[in-house]
Amino acid sequence: MSTKRTLIAGNWKMNLNTAQASLLLHRLQERIKIHKNIEVVLIPSALTLQPLSVQLDRRKFRLGAQNAYYKDDGAFTGEVSFTMLRDLVHYAVIGHSERRLYFNENNDLIRDKVAACVRNEITPILCVGETKHERRAGETKRVLHSQISTALSNLTAHEIGEMVIAYEPVWAISTFGGELAKPAQAQEAMDYIRKQIRDLHGKKAADNVRVLYGGSVDDQTARGYMEILGCDGVLVGGASLNYHKFSEIVRSAYAMRHEVEDE
Ligand code: 13P
Repeated sequence: MSTKRTLIAGNWKMNLNTAQASLLLHRLQERIKIHKNIEVVLIPSALTLQPLSVQLDRRKFRLGAQNAYYKDDGAFTGEVSFTMLRDLVHYAVIGHSERRLYFNENNDLIRDKVAACVRNEITPILCVGETKHERRAGETKRVLHSQISTALSNLTAHEIGEMVIAYEPVWAISTFGGELAKPAQAQEAMDYIRKQIRDLHGKKAADNVRVLYGGSVDDQTARGYMEILGCDGVLVGGASLNYHKFSEIVRSAYAMRHEVEDE
């Protein structure tokens, strides 16, 4: 765990209608306390961002979007832009493996989305990670390298330092098999991500960028990942829909911060 603000993000994916999302937020607000060094980010569907923003206790939570289109406005039927989201969310997930695999998002599109996100003063949470097949073929680093170098190619070192990168190995995501990554495997990839940022954009960007782990993180496994040196938090999918599990994950982050801060 690092000394930066710990980020615990819940990606609700395409789940929960407005009433269900409101109920989940209500339950989380009852359980989650304010902590100056922990940021809890809820990432519901685009439809529920507006009503949740009214209900939300801003001292406890921030909102994130799961996706948006890279053009600011225009004739793009069915899309929502980062410009439309800029007053509503602090963060946006970009390049999630479900979007890469189900919606054919490639690294060039993801680069344009990252740039649009930054242009609209929203912090990108860029997701990167290899498939099982790529890992078996020994291609993990090559895949991470091409995902990261392309996605960040239009940003300044300062902008990169302000953003978040989530390492989400595709094979560890519950929807794609949910095999548990060992913390040592996660650490190796996360170290590589930071090294790459250092090599391409300098030490300051590498020191400042927050790197998260995601992939079947729940209340049982979160601590093991958050203990990884240089891990700045977790991106949680399925377990973020369960208020017991998600508030327990936040509680373990609190406990860890207190242990560090009391030393
Ligand atoms: P799971 O936690 O359900 O594996 O999902 C991870 C994820 O995709 C978060 O973005």
